[in-house]
Amino acid sequence: MTDGNHHHLAPRTVQESQSEMAEVVLPNDANPLGNLLGGRLMHLIDIAGAMAAHRHARSYVVTASMDHIDFLSPVHIGDLLILRSSVNRAFRTSMEIGVKCWVENYIAGTSRHVASAYLTFVAVDKHGHHQPVPQIIPETEEEKQRYEGAGRRREIRKEEQERRRTLKKNG
Ligand SMILES: CC(C)(COP(=O)(O)OP(=O)(O)OC[C@H]1O[C@@H](n2cnc3c(N)ncnc32)[C@H](O)[C@@H]1OP(=O)(O)O)[C@@H](O)C(=O)NCCC(=O)NCCS
Repeated sequence: MTDGNHHHLAPRTVQESQSEMAEVVLPNDANPLGNLLGGRLMHLIDIAGAMAAHRHARSYVVTASMDHIDFLSPVHIGDLLILRSSVNRAFRTSMEIGVKCWVENYIAGTSRHVASAYLTFVAVDKHGHHQPVPQIIPETEEEKQRYEGAGRRREIRKEEQERRRTLKKNG
């Protein structure tokens, strides 16, 4: 299709928007023991997630939520942190993005998984109005599993929101 709007919403593969970010942990990112601050890692996860969301939606995006996050093992000053992000699934105006973080030991040539998170981004135009996003085409077995998982997690998020709303209403 040649229509600009249709072209904008043409489905895209996961690979097209997959992103990677690298960051060397500096003293300013760490606590007095030399461990990377959890909040700093969450900030980097947000940025890495937004990269994939921007590339997929080809628009501005806002972070709607970040799911539960486990810090699996400490990251130290001087470590080389790698963050990989990909679109797990696109819904109407929102997308679930998965971000996986690794510490790469460039001396030993090994890497260690340190954290993972799922984030939801909503596409917006320059006035902040929500915008529809292109659908995602999962190709590999892993991408298909993430796609299915994202559908289940969306249902859980909705149930959780409903539960909180009811709790609030009942004081
Ligand atoms: C996130 C935000 C855009 C949702 O707007 P809203 O008008 O309440 O949301 P709607 O009910 O119209 O839903 C819009 C989409 O967001 C999704 N969404 C809304 N709240 C969500 C949440 N807490 N978690 C995940 N997805 C959420 C909805 O499922 C919907 O997705 P869909 O279109 O793909 O079905 C709005 O609350 C907002 O702008 N928040 C601030 C965002 C921001 O500034 N982030 C940076 C951190 S301060």
